[in-house]
Amino acid sequence: MNHNQTLSLAPTGRRDAFIAEYGRHFGARRVELIVKSGRWMVEDHAEGAHIVDTDGRRYLDFFVSSGVFNLGHRHPAIMARMRAALETREFGNLLYFSEPKGELARLLARSAPGGLEVVLPTVSGSEAIDLALKLAMGFTGRQGVIHFDNSYHGSTGYSTAMGPSAVRSWAGIENRAFRQLPYGDIAALRGALDEGIAAVVVEPVRSNFDGLDPGPAFFAELRRLCDATGALMIVDEVVTGMGRLGTLWGAEHNRITPDIMVAAKGLSGGVFPLGAVLMRPAIIDCWTDHPYRSFSTYAWSNVGVEVAIAALEETRKILPAANAAGGLLEEALGILRRRHPGKITSVRRVGLIFAIDFNPERLRALEFATALYGRGVIIPPAAISMPTSPIARLLPPLILAREHVEEFLDKADDALGTLG
Ligand SMILES: Cc1ncc(COP(=O)(O)O)c(C=O)c1O
Repeated sequence: MNHNQTLSLAPTGRRDAFIAEYGRHFGARRVELIVKSGRWMVEDHAEGAHIVDTDGRRYLDFFVSSGVFNLGHRHPAIMARMRAALETREFGNLLYFSEPKGELARLLARSAPGGLEVVLPTVSGSEAIDLALKLAMGFTGRQGVIHFDNSYHGSTGYSTAMGPSAVRSWAGIENRAFRQLPYGDIAALRGALDEGIAAVVVEPVRSNFDGLDPGPAFFAELRRLCDATGALMIVDEVVTGMGRLGTLWGAEHNRITPDIMVAAKGLSGGVFPLGAVLMRPAIIDCWTDHPYRSFSTYAWSNVGVEVAIAALEETRKILPAANAAGGLLEEALGILRRRHPGKITSVRRVGLIFAIDFNPERLRALEFATALYGRGVIIPPAAISMPTSPIARLLPPLILAREHVEEFLDKADDALGTLG
């Protein structure tokens, strides 16, 4: 199949009509920037590995909203479970339990690294990170937090305090109790952990920047230092979880035993927002004076819970095939590297997360993402922390198949031919 048909980004019917009609409601200046980026669409429908916009353009989705569509779009088993759930279920009262909530909590606890028996519900990843930090502070009676550079943990209170400095300063959430360290740097860890630290927030692999994998030794030393100082280790599995690193949780990949684990995105099955905070049972006991010290009205809708159960089941089933297909994409990146010498300096893969290092003299991630977009492929735009980064990432869905790899290779080859 010839995939090299360049899509026209000239003004077209429905996409531009949308902006004329509604653009100002999304902030006119903001929308102008989005349109100027060349990477935007008005989505119409999606199926499998593709999204189709309102002008009928079809895009291969190697971004998957950073993990929301790990199972692709509208996975049949997810849609069936959701339809069935809607026959009898609704949100449910925010204070009460239900059988599906019990089942999801048990499945999550059993799937997670050892001893994380207790599960609290959230809607989003940011909310789950904030809850995890509140628990760590309540449990330890401390407020110090260590986090790592070029990592993203969300857009609410505490999660923003660990985010890009521009956002921190205009939002006035420069928190002096929060300290950023270089990711993967064992010596820096040794110098920073002490009895003032409530928690260290860390991803198993740096998913939102360069896919850097610090390896098990880093996490073993982090575990040792946390035990020695009484700090809690919070592992953010919002992106690395639900199969992304080739294992159900990224913690398995790097043999991590956290005190608290945060999950979201992929748990949604792409159709219902849902997050979770898993922890050692002792941690929740700092709340025994009141069982609802922190709660969230829309957390764990009974419909969403059914979907998350199906998402867990399907992710487990699909992992072997996904890992094999990841090997094909790795080969394709090797071909691109050989065909475009001097532009790509290296490629990295951990499970189903891929990073391409461009020669910064020749190419930036954003240029590549824009050129791919014009050809009908979506990849993550660039790290929020570093928009000029020369590192492009690919997050294909786990339903990845040979035909998707071929489509990507043809289009990326064509795009690279015109760049740098
Ligand atoms: C690693 C990581 N943690 C947390 C979050 C926050 O999740 P949410 O956008 O669901 O609030 C994100 C979002 O992209 C993320 O990438």
